[in-house]
Amino acid sequence: MTEKDLSTSLLEWYDKHGRTLPWRVKGGAHPDPYVILVSEFMLQQTTVKTVIPYFHRFMQRFPTVQELAAAPLEEVYLYWQGLGYYTRAKSLHCSAQMISRRGSFPDTRDEVMKLKGIGNYTVASFLSLAFNLPETVIDGNVIRIICRLYHLTEPVDKIMPQIRQMAENLTSRTAPADYASAIMDLGAVVCTPRKPQCLLCPWQNFCRSKNCPELEEIPARSKPEKKEKRGSVCLIYNSKGEIFIRKRTEKGLLSGLYEFPWSDDGQIFASLNPQDSGKTVTHVFTHFKLLLRIYTLTAETPPLDGQFVRPQDLKNYPFSTLMKKVYAQN
Ligand code: ADE
Repeated sequence: MTEKDLSTSLLEWYDKHGRTLPWRVKGGAHPDPYVILVSEFMLQQTTVKTVIPYFHRFMQRFPTVQELAAAPLEEVYLYWQGLGYYTRAKSLHCSAQMISRRGSFPDTRDEVMKLKGIGNYTVASFLSLAFNLPETVIDGNVIRIICRLYHLTEPVDKIMPQIRQMAENLTSRTAPADYASAIMDLGAVVCTPRKPQCLLCPWQNFCRSKNCPELEEIPARSKPEKKEKRGSVCLIYNSKGEIFIRKRTEKGLLSGLYEFPWSDDGQIFASLNPQDSGKTVTHVFTHFKLLLRIYTLTAETPPLDGQFVRPQDLKNYPFSTLMKKVYAQN
């Protein structure tokens, strides 16, 4: 199946199953770019379902770009009230004034970019839906569809150029407005993040992730880097060769286990003046990574609450893996 075939089958599916939405016409560009401008601003951070009643009220009060441009911003806010992200209302109002002044809607990427509050996604959706230009919309839905279709399992941030290229290759040259609406619908209704409806998908026979058990894990996201904490641990020996241990308090991390005194704030050892061994152990906990610098010290009496034990007796005390690592480094 070529990209052209895929695009054709998506368009056929859209023709039959595409959603009917108040800002949408099927079969080409919307006759009024203002409708697309308003709806795309509203849909930037808000769901279709929430937008619909706002869109109707807004269009009733501001039916043309000139009427919006002439209205006071305060009144525009009134009609935006409850939609959130109010800078969108201000940007839309400002864009309407720019359009009203220039006398026509911009229809090139550079000109649309000059409007306020418009990024790559809105440029592409506006140009495709309002002017039937072959621009590729790329948002979370489209990324998910492409990654599943081609079974791209690398984290998204590592393969964005590849995803963008594939999305562009699929974009219909002959019916870009319908194609843009169609791929939005596919992402919203069929290829959903959870429980995708593969049996309803026009691309099911080509999709490389269909029936894959990890389908819901695609697209993959990079794991956030674990936060790094640094601390120090002190191995304290007396002249008999015994080593100092203490029991951790019952609450919190590694509670109840024994340890060589350590801390992640560098405070407790300051007064003891230990020697830096130059060695560090690293341990990965669920939420952070700990790097412990090992210090050594000689003392005859326990400098903290705890006890000296013979090295051969250490096996009788429960230690965490972290502490075992520290001792093994020694
Ligand atoms: N999300 C952003 N633009 C949209 C549109 N025109 N239709 C449906 N969902 C959208």
